[in-house]
Amino acid sequence: MAKPILKWAGGKRQLLDALYTRFPEEWNRYYEPFVGGGAVFFALEPDDGVINDSNARLMNFYEQVRENPEPLIDRCKSFRPPEAEPDPGRPFHETDQNGRDIDCYYYQQRALFNRRPYGDRELTDDERLEEAALLLYLNRTCYNGLYRENQSGGFNAPIGRYDDPDWVREGRVRAASELLEGIELRNEDFESVLEEIETGDFVYCDPPYEPMSPTAQFTQYAADDFDRDDQARLLEVAQQLDQRGAFVVMSNSGVLRDRYEEAGFEVKLEGARRAINSDGSSRGEVNELIATNVPADRRGCQR
Ligand SMILES: C[S@@+](CC[C@H](N)C(=O)[O-])C[C@H]1O[C@@H](n2cnc3c(N)ncnc32)[C@H](O)[C@@H]1O
Repeated sequence: MAKPILKWAGGKRQLLDALYTRFPEEWNRYYEPFVGGGAVFFALEPDDGVINDSNARLMNFYEQVRENPEPLIDRCKSFRPPEAEPDPGRPFHETDQNGRDIDCYYYQQRALFNRRPYGDRELTDDERLEEAALLLYLNRTCYNGLYRENQSGGFNAPIGRYDDPDWVREGRVRAASELLEGIELRNEDFESVLEEIETGDFVYCDPPYEPMSPTAQFTQYAADDFDRDDQARLLEVAQQLDQRGAFVVMSNSGVLRDRYEEAGFEVKLEGARRAINSDGSSRGEVNELIATNVPADRRGCQR
């Protein structure tokens, strides 16, 4: 069975059972336009579908897992422990792009990973593989496994402290590679993915959540925020999909309950525990909503 390879903010492992009871029993094509770490995708193991995310480095990672699993594993095996000395044979062993001192191997790899947003050309195939390997390495060794970018698109999570971090994950990479063979990978805004949906297709949407209170911060996955206009746009798209006969299930924070109900979706609140918060605090129960348009007599995913 395939499993997620990356830890990702907003991961849905704890919500899986609650989601399954609102998913359809059967569908044609599977679409997940905000795939992130793919907890639902890997659990469902669809053999036909589209996964998408606006994070280019994440989608490059899945492409490399699918196309080049063994080179990716080999490259990951060659990384050193995060606290080791920087590799003197590679760039950024003394300072990063901003001239800040590099004090260990982790920060050198982070600077290497961050070359993409500061560069002005397409990456070569080798660089794409290298970037995917670095994403996995940093995801497994950074503080709290949190993928976080600054406003210029630079990954800026600090080093984490783990007893025995596994940044190779070869079993998971191989299983995911097989699963991804039948799947189309896209790196677009969610709306463009949803344009082609047909009757009987199933769309699971897990966007960045609306903050629980006006003062709460959005969890920042990427340099571009997902703001209130995007939330409204998603709801409009979801209504169009419903009219086209697609099954639509969405998760979000409980504050949007009324808006989803007014849009015609059946809404249930769940007290799921968030795996990661941006500041590492308040890991308690939070209200999440699951909205579905799947008729009660057609629900019951058996995965
Ligand atoms: C809540 S996370 C998804 C988490 C995922 N369900 C998991 O299990 O890990 C939301 C994702 O939406 C992506 N995203 C943000 N804005 C987007 C947009 N306009 N279109 C597509 N994806 C977007 C983010 O990069 C992030 O990976």
